[in-house]
Amino acid sequence: MKTLISQGAEAKIYLDKKLIIKERVPKNYRIKELDEKIRKYRTRREISILEKASKIINVPKLISFNDFKIVVEFIDGKKLADYLDSFDNKKRFWICKLVGNNIALLHNNNIIHGDLTTSNMILKGNDVYFIDFGLSFIDQKEEHKAVDLHLLKQALESKHYKHYNSSFKAVLDGYKENSNNYKLIIERLNKVEGRGRYKTKNNKIANF
Ligand SMILES: Nc1ncnc2c1ncn2[C@@H]1O[C@H](COP(=O)(O)OP(=O)(O)O)[C@@H](O)[C@H]1O
Ligand SMILES: [Mg+2]
Repeated sequence: MKTLISQGAEAKIYLDKKLIIKERVPKNYRIKELDEKIRKYRTRREISILEKASKIINVPKLISFNDFKIVVEFIDGKKLADYLDSFDNKKRFWICKLVGNNIALLHNNNIIHGDLTTSNMILKGNDVYFIDFGLSFIDQKEEHKAVDLHLLKQALESKHYKHYNSSFKAVLDGYKENSNNYKLIIERLNKVEGRGRYKTKNNKIANF
């Protein structure tokens, strides 16, 4: 039996036995032809990046797909959004470090996740799985890698406030271990943050 477990802005997520079905739903405010084109494009892009990422880090196995739908393996683990705060410091540190290790591996391959929040990371055993490549893209620029890290920092700050400094520090420790361009990306992160104090790249007011 198929159960709806989440409904985001873009997609409905169903759990069916051990499978996750991510279905991009029509947006009625877009004209039909354009809407189909966008949903197809985004589905295809997510599949292609998921496949690329699967050769580098732990991600759910792709089972099948069509124009609007992706079926992947259900990762039966602990979503970090729900569990990170409940772990003791030692466990939290190694998990955050592992998260940083994984982000660096993606970035070394120019994969920008685009939505690095703890809702998109699942701990299973001693592995962290990254999910939701719906906003991902390929780009080699330091700017995008820095913004990717910055978004995770913001997510930690808002969802895991109590330990966010030490958690993000552990992420960066892990990132440093694997990154092939640590210095320049961190320099850029500092610039992004200086800028972010007043406005983000999209001119949205942030951090107030
Ligand atoms: N492969 C998976 N294994 C386990 N849970 C998943 C999986 N894919 C999605 N989920 C659950 O569904 C939620 C939403 O899925 P996600 O792909 O992140 O879509 P959205 O774009 O709506 O954020 C996740 O936060 C997670 O709880
Ligand atoms: Mg998500």
